[in-house]
Amino acid sequence: MEKDWWKKAVVYQVYPKSFQDSNADGIGDIRGIINHLDYLEDLGITALWLNPMYCSPGIDNGYDISDYEQIDPIYGSMKDMQLLIDEARKRGIKIIMDLVVNHTSDKHPWFIKSCQDRTNKYRDYYVWRDPVDGHEPNELQSTFGGSAWEFDSQTGQYYLHQFSKQQPDLNWQNSKLRQAIYKMMNFWIEKGIGGFRLDVIDLIGKNPDTMQMANGKDLHRFLQEMNQQTFGKKSLMTVGETWGATPEIAKLYSDPQRHELSMVFQFEHTQLDQQDGQGKWSIKPLNFYELKKVLNKWQVGLNPTGWNSLFWNNHDLPRAVSAFGNDQEYRVESAKMLAILLHLMKGTPYIYQGEEIGMTNCPVSSIDEVNDVESINMYHEKKNEGFNDNEIIRLINHRGRDNARTPMQWKGDQKYAGFSSQKPWLHVNPNYKTINVDDQLRDSNSIYNTYKELIDYRKKHLLVVEGSYSLVDTADDVYAYLREMDGQKLLVVANLSGKDQTLKLDYGVQQPWISNYNIEKINLNDYKLRPYEAFAVEIH
Ligand code: NOJ
Repeated sequence: MEKDWWKKAVVYQVYPKSFQDSNADGIGDIRGIINHLDYLEDLGITALWLNPMYCSPGIDNGYDISDYEQIDPIYGSMKDMQLLIDEARKRGIKIIMDLVVNHTSDKHPWFIKSCQDRTNKYRDYYVWRDPVDGHEPNELQSTFGGSAWEFDSQTGQYYLHQFSKQQPDLNWQNSKLRQAIYKMMNFWIEKGIGGFRLDVIDLIGKNPDTMQMANGKDLHRFLQEMNQQTFGKKSLMTVGETWGATPEIAKLYSDPQRHELSMVFQFEHTQLDQQDGQGKWSIKPLNFYELKKVLNKWQVGLNPTGWNSLFWNNHDLPRAVSAFGNDQEYRVESAKMLAILLHLMKGTPYIYQGEEIGMTNCPVSSIDEVNDVESINMYHEKKNEGFNDNEIIRLINHRGRDNARTPMQWKGDQKYAGFSSQKPWLHVNPNYKTINVDDQLRDSNSIYNTYKELIDYRKKHLLVVEGSYSLVDTADDVYAYLREMDGQKLLVVANLSGKDQTLKLDYGVQQPWISNYNIEKINLNDYKLRPYEAFAVEIH
């Protein structure tokens, strides 16, 4: 493998449960992914991040793992997985596995043994504490609501769970546990995978006694050890999920001299529609100027030693076009604008399944339609606090994780959107009749084709991968930047808003590489940008 191949890669994220069901049980599976590798090759992506498909009771859709070395039968078998790795490789696509090592399922044999008594060898694989005055050891809260401590009456102690109580936290202070994790990672590396996406990795250095959970003191030491004992010498790609990263922290992870990770996901831009410090359910309107400031801060901040990941959405976030664009009258224009803006920045771009056709959020009208454990827990908490149903459903429709998890919309003329022939595990977005892959493949002007073109530019122009980045001064709601390398200059302009904007730059008349309003020539000295208009021009 070429060293640093991931700097040139475009990663596509597959949420397997919702991608394609090949065996008519309403649940997506590995064969369904294999059946669509040609589609992904046509799009041009070169790496595939798969959400977890290991054995799991499915409390948190696979992020509660009961066996790291087996594929859950709902997705297929290890033979299918190996076939997927091999078939993807033939198409120039590397498989990135999701590595969930902050916690396991409570059904993992380690945890079952850990619960048997206080002295067994697995006790210390997890985080156990004595009650304090007959109560929880402290005030730590779980991300999914309620206390992060659960009492085990058999052994008289509490265990830590930062997510659901069926997801007990692993104790990374225990070197035996760390060795067991590295062994499991090497098991996967030997199968020929291209790397790992490391789930909530900034939590592994936790210290529940001081309540410092993210960015704990041993975090980077553990990552260096992991790097050395697993992927370090193999040119694999690694991307850490780090909700608490600042550009300074992100550089610690991604500076090649420190031998930790290739890059991290930071989430600052995805939280701009939340009230400061009040969590994901406290919503406020997105301010475009703030969005520009934050994205620019990360572009500038990680230079020259770090490396950015570039993404708008994933399986935990609302759909890109619903969160950052306009998923109604300007759906096509704003989806293309978001693609142009992001894919010409410096870093490794990620596409979440369905983003390439502009899939939207999928509103529900009652809690009975909701599947996600996080939304359901929040619903009950808010009900107890006295909120009414409408208010809570509005929050779920805005930020709930099911929005991104509805089945992939392949076909407009088939029940269940061509995802499955049977009723899917989660409702299909009714807009599949007009938003689907089939129609977009036939339309040369589709969102899909904008993504395809952008991926192609990245492959053909080293400038897009390595060129310098600088912000260009424009109106607040217009984001413009320059990429430069060896005398080549690319200007990218995006109107983030639904209002007309004026652009005046001393670059004369130019022909765009790509645009979302089909323009032949642009007079940059004086140009009126239409709602969500975006283009990239090479400056001559
Ligand atoms: C982050 C994952 O992306 C999310 O889906 C999951 O619920 C939590 N980590 C817990 O594993």
